[in-house]
Amino acid sequence: MKTEITELTADQVPAVAELCRRALDVPEDAAEASDVVDAVWSRAAVDRPVVALGAYRGAELVGALVCSVSARYAQHGHVDLVAVDPAHRRQGVARALLASAERALAGLGAAEVRLVGNPPHYAWPGIDVRYTPAVCTALALGYEQHGTAWNMTADLSYDGSPALRSTEAAQERLAGQGVSVRRAGPGDLPALTEFARANFGGSWDAELAGSVGREGAGCHLAERDGELLGFAAYGSSRPSWFGPMGTAPAAEGAGIGGVLLRRCLRDQRAAGVTAAQIGWVGPVPFYSGSAGARIERVFFLYRKTLAD
Ligand SMILES: CC(C)(COP(=O)(O)OP(=O)(O)OC[C@H]1O[C@@H](n2cnc3c(N)ncnc32)[C@H](O)[C@@H]1OP(=O)(O)O)[C@@H](O)C(=O)NCCC(=O)NCCS
Repeated sequence: MKTEITELTADQVPAVAELCRRALDVPEDAAEASDVVDAVWSRAAVDRPVVALGAYRGAELVGALVCSVSARYAQHGHVDLVAVDPAHRRQGVARALLASAERALAGLGAAEVRLVGNPPHYAWPGIDVRYTPAVCTALALGYEQHGTAWNMTADLSYDGSPALRSTEAAQERLAGQGVSVRRAGPGDLPALTEFARANFGGSWDAELAGSVGREGAGCHLAERDGELLGFAAYGSSRPSWFGPMGTAPAAEGAGIGGVLLRRCLRDQRAAGVTAAQIGWVGPVPFYSGSAGARIERVFFLYRKTLAD
């Protein structure tokens, strides 16, 4: 049967989420399918060009793809999500979707297409290696692997987990140095954004805005005499995901990061998360030491130069 590719509109978000629940073979992705679609489509469209494509066979939506242009590098197009109904695989649906996406991205000025998360709104850093058909598809369609990324998992499933270790003693120690920690509220957002820009280069505005005071998300901060020293945030891309976080270079090594991290993980556990994903890491020894986190999800990053 003929496959037709059309541009999707915002009212089709629920239909794409439903398709993703069936198509995403990694259970934790299927469970968060609505959040995945929301992150890369509804929320991403606010600050970058986003195109959502549907593959139809007759009236049935059998595949979907969301792609976007990097807000930072105008020449980089990104494929944020691609999913094909299990009953319609190996029939060229992804091939047709990716060909349309490449044309759409070229039309928006991209010179290269990346199968890589497009921060700040992303569902994965790249293709999880367990989506092996997706790895095969990328290779078949001329993409080359140019990097590897990984998430770490913090186990929140049992009381004695190192990720849930008490922060009290460390907070008392910090208090002795005049450092206090607390949950951030909406009023803290401008200062947090300014702090992140000044210390870490400015790509976390949207993730902070998506964390502070938003349902299913949150942020904790450390300060001394009203001066911010660090923050840790969670839930902006997906409820189970942790990050970003940062401690001012001058305040590193005092234990601030570990405290803020575990305060966030404790919130996530209280919200029912049993395994937090520390996305696109980062300092492995820090997360391993502070929360017993282990490297778990591994992603291959792909790119392809578009022909002129
Ligand atoms: C990855 C996915 C989108 C591919 O969709 P599809 O419509 O089956 O792909 P196509 O039929 O267009 O395949 C194109 C080419 O990719 C390769 N390919 C696709 N699936 C493959 C598989 N299971 N094994 C080997 N090669 C494969 C083949 O070369 C294929 O061409 P061919 O069938 O002519 O040999 C689909 O498997 C899927 O939805 N998986 C779950 C979601 C997912 O992994 N998304 C990415 C998340 S990071």
